[in-house]
Amino acid sequence: MSNVGKKRKIVLENGKEITIRYIKFSDLNAIWENYNEVVDEGRYLPAFEHVTSNYEKKTWYQDLIGLGNLCIVAQDKSLDSDEDIVGQCTIEDVQWEASDHVGVLGIIVRKSHRNMDIGYHLIEFSLEEAQENGKEKIILTVFETNKHAISLYQKLGFDTVGVRKKHFFMNGQYIDEILMEKWIGD
Ligand SMILES: CC(C)(COP(=O)(O)OP(=O)(O)OC[C@H]1O[C@@H](n2cnc3c(N)ncnc32)[C@H](O)[C@@H]1OP(=O)(O)O)[C@@H](O)C(=O)NCCC(=O)NCCS
Repeated sequence: MSNVGKKRKIVLENGKEITIRYIKFSDLNAIWENYNEVVDEGRYLPAFEHVTSNYEKKTWYQDLIGLGNLCIVAQDKSLDSDEDIVGQCTIEDVQWEASDHVGVLGIIVRKSHRNMDIGYHLIEFSLEEAQENGKEKIILTVFETNKHAISLYQKLGFDTVGVRKKHFFMNGQYIDEILMEKWIGD
């Protein structure tokens, strides 16, 4: 991937300066801390277990780089250097060879940094990079109950294309999974 040094500085309404850039190996622990925090929240991802092993983290990173998948992070340099990655957006290939033009989007913003537009900027930058890397369509899935994420995706031009009814069972109730996509090709 030729753009790995590319970055963008954004200034949030609250004056905070955030750097949006490609992932580095040294970001790994912070990224998985952000993931584990969302697992603990228990209402946005269909996962129950933390990722803690260094082996698992490194394997994920090696696969990401090896397969040419995209991971864009948001860095808040005003924080302690070990914990300054406050969000991440991945766009990964789907399994099928005939769907090489399609990427699957995933996003997490750390709880302390939500509702500051970081998610919007992370996705906007990631879509631009995915397009430069030849992707033409971006797909994602989201819990029907995750109104904030759905609103963000809609503002970025994603359309709802389907619903998997009662696809997850969490906290004693079924949750529908919404399928969304955005065409970014010509
Ligand atoms: C969903 C999530 C990634 C959103 O990130 P965020 O940084 O809080 O979102 P933002 O601050 O960028 O967006 C906030 C609002 O401003 C809007 N917005 C932000 N920047 C904008 C811009 N430049 N132009 C137009 N709208 C904008 C967003 O659409 C959203 O609208 P809303 O208030 O109607 O909901 C975050 O809440 C999160 O990590 N949640 C837990 C994990 C999760 O749910 N992941 C997604 C699983 S599918």
